[in-house]
Amino acid sequence: MKRMLSGIKPTGRVTLGNYIGAIKPFVSYQDEYEMFIFIANLHSMTVYQEPAELRKNTKDLIALYIAAGLDPERVTLFLQSDVLEHAQLGWYLGCMVSMGELSRMTQYKDKAAKNEVIGAGIFNYPSLMNADILMYDPDFVPVGEDQKQHVELCRDVAEKFNSRYSDTFKVPTPLVAKVGGRIMDLQNPTKKMSKSEETSKGCIYILDDINISKKKIKSAMTDSDNSVHFDKENKPGISNLLEIYSILTNRTIKDIEQQYVGKGYGEFKGDLAEIVGEELQRIQDKYKEITTGSYLDEVLKAGAEKARPLARKKLAKVERKMGITITKR
Ligand code: AMP
Ligand code: TRP
Repeated sequence: MKRMLSGIKPTGRVTLGNYIGAIKPFVSYQDEYEMFIFIANLHSMTVYQEPAELRKNTKDLIALYIAAGLDPERVTLFLQSDVLEHAQLGWYLGCMVSMGELSRMTQYKDKAAKNEVIGAGIFNYPSLMNADILMYDPDFVPVGEDQKQHVELCRDVAEKFNSRYSDTFKVPTPLVAKVGGRIMDLQNPTKKMSKSEETSKGCIYILDDINISKKKIKSAMTDSDNSVHFDKENKPGISNLLEIYSILTNRTIKDIEQQYVGKGYGEFKGDLAEIVGEELQRIQDKYKEITTGSYLDEVLKAGAEKARPLARKKLAKVERKMGITITKR
C-alpha cells in the first residue's frame, strides 16, 4: 500500500474550503493508502494564536476529521507537538536550504511584501514542513495549490540529503486535486475562500449555524447570464458553486450542468443550499457525539504512539548519517 501524508494548521474556524480541499479528500484516500494525518500546531505558531482559541480550534479540527469520516483505527491521526522529533529534524533540514530558496516561497513573499513585521517562523516554516513529510517517507502529499511549492522544495531537500549522505528519504510527490483544490470566496469568486478573511459573508464555516450557511450559498455572487455552465474565466462565481456541488454529491460537473439546462441560478442555488445544509448537519451531529467524553484524547494518544517509533527511527538514521551520533544507540 502506498503511503500518504498531510498536515493542517489549527488556525481559525474550519471552512468549507478546508473541508472540500483538505478534509474530504483524505476520507476517500483512506481506502487506498496508508494515511498519516496530523494537526500542524507547531506551524500555527508562526502567527500569534490566542491560547484558548488555539485549544478550541485544535480540538475542533481533530473532531471534524473524524466527523467527516476519517477512521482513526486505520489512519495515523496525531498532533505534531506530540512527536518532538519533527522539530529536531526540521532544524537539520533548515541547515540544508538556502536563504534564497526560502525567500522564493510565495507564501513568505506575499507576507513580506505587505511590509509588516513578520516572525522568523514564517520564513523558516518550510523546513519544518519538510521534516513533517520526510520523517514518514510518504509517496504522496495531498495539498492545496498554495502548498505545492513547499512540497517541491521538500523534494529538492530530500534529493540533496540523499546525494550528500546516501539514500535516506523517499522523494515525495505533491498531489493537488483538480476539482476542489481551490474553493473561492462566495462574494468575491476570484479570491480563495479563507478563514483569515474578515468578511465572513463569502465564507462558510463547518460548525456555523446551518441556516446562515444556506443563506450564504443562496446569496453567492454570480454573473447575470443565468445559465448554469462551467467557465472559470468568465463565470467564476457559478463555476465555484458547480465545483462545490460536484464534490459534495460525487457527480461530474457535466452531469450537473445537464440537469440545469434551461433552469436558472435561483433553482440551482436553492438545491445547492440544501445539499450543503445536509452535509453540514451530518458532520455537526457526529461532531457532537465525539466531542463528549475522552474519546478525542484517546485517539490522539494512540496516534502519537503509532507515529513516534517511526519518527525516532528516522531521526536516528539521519543523525547517524550526518555524524551527529557518536555512540551506538
Ligand atoms: P489553511 O486554511 O490555509 O491553513 O489551509 C488548510 C488546508 O485547507 C490546506 O490544505 C489548504 O490548501 C486547504 N484549503 C484552504 N482553503 C481552501 C480553499 N478555499 N479551497 C480548497 N482548499 C483549501
Ligand atoms: N503548511 C501547511 C499549510 O499551511 C500545513 C502543513 C504543515 C503540511 N506540514 C505539512 C501540509 C506537511 C502537508 C505536509 O496548510
